[in-house]
Amino acid sequence: LDFLNGESSASERLVVVANRLPVTCSKDQHGHWQLQVSAGGLVSALKGVSTYTTMWIGWPGIWVKPGRERDALTAMLVQEGCIPVWIDPTLLDMYYNGFCNSVLWQLFHYVPLNIDSWQKMSEHRAMQMQWQAYQVANQRFADVVLENYLPNDIMWIQDYHLMVLPSLLKAVVPKMKVGFFLHTPFPSSEMYRTLPVREEVLRAVLGADLIGFHTYDYARHFISSCTRILGLEGTPEGVENNGTICRVGTFPIGIDPERFTHALETDEVQSHVAKLLNRYAGRKIMLGVDRLDMVKGIPQKLLAFEKFLEEHPEWRDKVLLVQIAVPSRTDVSEYQKLRSMVHEIVGRINGQFGTLTYVPIYHLDTSLSFTELCALYAVTDVALVTSLRDGMNLVSYEYVACQSDNAGVLVLSEFAGAAQSLGAGAILVNPWNITDMAQAIEDSLCMSEEERRERHRQNYMHVQTHTAQHWADTFISELNDTHIEADLRMKH
Ligand code: G6P
Repeated sequence: LDFLNGESSASERLVVVANRLPVTCSKDQHGHWQLQVSAGGLVSALKGVSTYTTMWIGWPGIWVKPGRERDALTAMLVQEGCIPVWIDPTLLDMYYNGFCNSVLWQLFHYVPLNIDSWQKMSEHRAMQMQWQAYQVANQRFADVVLENYLPNDIMWIQDYHLMVLPSLLKAVVPKMKVGFFLHTPFPSSEMYRTLPVREEVLRAVLGADLIGFHTYDYARHFISSCTRILGLEGTPEGVENNGTICRVGTFPIGIDPERFTHALETDEVQSHVAKLLNRYAGRKIMLGVDRLDMVKGIPQKLLAFEKFLEEHPEWRDKVLLVQIAVPSRTDVSEYQKLRSMVHEIVGRINGQFGTLTYVPIYHLDTSLSFTELCALYAVTDVALVTSLRDGMNLVSYEYVACQSDNAGVLVLSEFAGAAQSLGAGAILVNPWNITDMAQAIEDSLCMSEEERRERHRQNYMHVQTHTAQHWADTFISELNDTHIEADLRMKH
C-alpha cells in the first residue's frame, strides 16, 4: 500500500517506451560504435522528473544481426539507460514506413487513406499486412518491456507507433501502471472511422490507465470515437471500458526553455549570431524550421512568400526566408514527392525574384546543430509555422524562448496544437488561405515595436511556465492517482 501512503519504493522507475530511442548509433572511422544522446524536449523533460530513475525502451534506429556486435552495442545502450528493441528491415518497412507513417500518421493529420500505396504492393491485403506487422512490432516492444519489468514501474508509452502496446502489457500484468500519450492530433471521429481497423486500435489503446493528448479537442475526438465506434460510454473523466474507466486527459507539452536561454549566452552561439547578422545585414529575415513532412505546410508557406513578393515589390531585396527542411522518413514515397515539389517552388521563386546579389529563399535540406539553430532563432525577425495539422509544434516554443532581445513575430497556423497556447501573442493564420498568409507576412514585418514586445511578452510567459517538465510531472502524477483509484476499486 505504498501508493496510498504517498511513498515510492526504492525500485520505482519511470520506463519510457517510444518507437525511437533518444540516441543515434553510428560507426566511427575505425568501425567502432558511437552513441550520440539526443537532447530533445522529451529527454530533458524526463531527466527533470527527479523522483524516478528513468529508463528508455525503443528502436535504436539501425539493424544489427544477432551476435557479438549486437551484444556489445546493446551493452553500450544500456549504459545510457536505453534498452533496444531490434526490428529487422522487412518488419520495419511494413510497420514503420507502412502502418505508422503511411496510414496512422496520415489519417491522424486529416490526410485521407491512400489506396495508391496499397495497390502498388500488388496485394489487396496490403494494409492488412501492414496492420499485422504493426501488431508484431508492438509485440516485440511488449516482450522487451516484460523482460525488464519490475513491480511498481511506471510505463509511459509514447505516440502513434505503439497504440496496441497498452493491451498487450495489461493482458500479461493486469496491475501494471500504464500511461499512453499521443503526440499527434487525434482527428474527428468522422475521419478516424475510415480506418479499416478502427475498433482494434481503439480497444487496444484503451488498455492504458490514462491516455493523454495535447489539446482538449484531440481528447474530445478520441472519446467520441470510442462512443460512436465502440458504443462505449464517455464520461467527463474518460471512457468506460469493461467496468473500468480509462482516463483521458489534456496535457499540453512544452520545452525546456533554459536549455535555449543558457545556450544563447555561450560564446559558440554568440559567434554564430555575429556571423549570421553580418551575412544578412540590412535585410529582414523570416525563418521556417520543419521536418520535411506534408503536414508542415511548407509549399503553402512558400506560395504565400511568393505572393507577398509579387504584391510588394518594395520588399524585394529587403527580406529573405531561411527555410530549414530536415529530411524525414525518406523511404516513404509521399515524402520523396514533397521534396521535389518544394525544390521546384523554391527554384521558381529564386529564379523570378533573385538578383546577382539577392536570393529570396535559403532552402536547406538538412538539420542544424543545436547551437546554429539557437543562433538562427535569435537573429530572425519572423518565424513562419504554417502546419496543415500539428499535434503541438515545439518550433514555435523554441523560437519564442530565443527571442527576448528582438521580440520577433510568430506567425502560427491555427491548425497547430500550439495555437491554443501561443495564439494570444502570435498572428494566427489558415495555411490554406495564401492571400491571408501573404497579408500576415506583411503585418509581421510592419508591426510596431510596442506591439511586438507585448505579443512576445505574453508568449514568453507561457513558454517559461508551461515547460516539458511541468507536462511530465502532471501526466505522471495523474497516472499515479488514476492507478490508486483503480486499485481501490479492484479491492472493493
Ligand atoms: C513526430 C512524432 C514523433 C517522431 C518524430 C520524428 O514528432 O510525433 O513520434 O519521433 O515526428 O519522426 P521519426 O519518424 O523520424 O521518428
